[in-house]
Amino acid sequence: MSQRKKIKALLESTETNVEITVKGWVRSFRNNQFIALNDGSTNNTLQVVVDFENTDAALLKRITTGAAISATGLLVESMGKGQRVELKAKEIEILGDCDPESYPLQLKNRPSLEFLREIAHLRFRTNTFGAIFRVRNSLSFAIHQFFQERGFVYLHTPIITASDAEGAGETFHVTNFDLANPPKTDTGEIDFSEDFFARPTNLTVSGQLEGELGAMALSDIYTFGPTFRAENSNTTRHLAEFWMIEPEMAFYDLNDNMDLAEALLKYVIKYALDKNADDLAFLSQRLAEEEKQKPQQDRSEMSLIEKLEFCLNNDFERLTYTEAINILKESTPNKKKKFQYLVEGWGTDLQSEHERYLVEKHFKKPVILTDYPKAIKAFYMRQNEPDANGNETVRAMDILFPGIGEIVGGSQREERLDRLEKRMDEMGIPKEELWWYLDTRRFGACPHAGFGLGFERLVLFVTGMGNIRDVIPFPRFPKNAEF
Ligand code: 4AD
Ligand code: MG
Repeated sequence: MSQRKKIKALLESTETNVEITVKGWVRSFRNNQFIALNDGSTNNTLQVVVDFENTDAALLKRITTGAAISATGLLVESMGKGQRVELKAKEIEILGDCDPESYPLQLKNRPSLEFLREIAHLRFRTNTFGAIFRVRNSLSFAIHQFFQERGFVYLHTPIITASDAEGAGETFHVTNFDLANPPKTDTGEIDFSEDFFARPTNLTVSGQLEGELGAMALSDIYTFGPTFRAENSNTTRHLAEFWMIEPEMAFYDLNDNMDLAEALLKYVIKYALDKNADDLAFLSQRLAEEEKQKPQQDRSEMSLIEKLEFCLNNDFERLTYTEAINILKESTPNKKKKFQYLVEGWGTDLQSEHERYLVEKHFKKPVILTDYPKAIKAFYMRQNEPDANGNETVRAMDILFPGIGEIVGGSQREERLDRLEKRMDEMGIPKEELWWYLDTRRFGACPHAGFGLGFERLVLFVTGMGNIRDVIPFPRFPKNAEF
């Protein structure tokens, strides 16, 4: 019995004239003789040569694009162009037929990404999505490896919570009630004391608050899990369900925090470049073809691989929000009123057009903005002393990436109980519900910091794809929860 071999390993091995078995899905079948077989271990296919004269015609007819087959035979050096080895099949077994009339993935007509989103259950079988999901896998492994090498503890924070960590009010409710007929109190309000958790609950928007609790004993922790936001943003950068990596470190200040985030991003990008060279070369080529469709001035000066390498080889630019506002105010698009939102004064939030100007036009590299106005950031960020103009800022940092905008959001945390409580009061955050969070400021509080890296935005950057819905297997967004 020959054992099944994966195609990636076969194409890399130097062994020939051995009998092997491969299993996979037919990508194409040419001249009743040459099968291009793919098993998902690589985008490359193994050529399986069928001895058609000695093969039953009925079986030949069943070798169609998409069919699952098993092939056993001799691995030999290939005479054909483009491959080193091929399999001379002795035996072919059809494991699963695939009706060519109804199979939606025929290679002849290259399907659009939009169409493939509608058949997300099958899109793994295309080269593009095979490459994307192998890269996604590597990035997620590299993230764990980075933190594990540094002694961080992987902490599983809850998915169901009673808090809204970001205070943005964009949560999905979790309830066991019969929605048509929920129990009511005497005053006619919904009586949550009757609900499963005896209180209103929601899917987490961030594991940070619980992560901070872990860091106050374990020193360095990270989370890596799904988070949920009911923001009604139909953009190429937002999902309703996305994965986030949230490290939290005791005794770190904002500079330590930025150093860690920059090191993490470089480490995982390097890992993917090393581990997924073939897939990234394919995606780089795909992007280059897509760029050709664009007008000259909109085309990127660098290929995908060059962009990734550029990111590794350059320090991220670090500057304050206030410095960024001054650059934007003086910028050509602002003066010529080309921005949709003109930058006039200090204090407003940056729009993605402003972030992209800073990253893509002004600095031409990743940028870390720090010390944002207190009024536009979350309650837990450490407050700076007001500056000479009386402007109030917090120790926040956002990392902005070319083509992506914000990829990381983080801060040093407010560890001073009095300041934190005052800020919660000002922002209407219920202190009594977060008693446990405030306890860490009562019992051995210390300076600490952390950040959140949006995993899909990272995958988007590394794969060079344009829409976040294409880098997660089954995207969740407004009006869509198919699959
Ligand atoms: O900036 P955000 O909202 O920060 C937090 O949630 C903090 N609690 C993180 C922390 O300090 N521990 O989100 C962090 C990152 C963003 O920079 C972005 O990359 C990603 O999460 N993100 C989204 N990604 C996809 N879809 C969405 N709707 C996202 N919202 C945020
Ligand atoms: Mg943010």
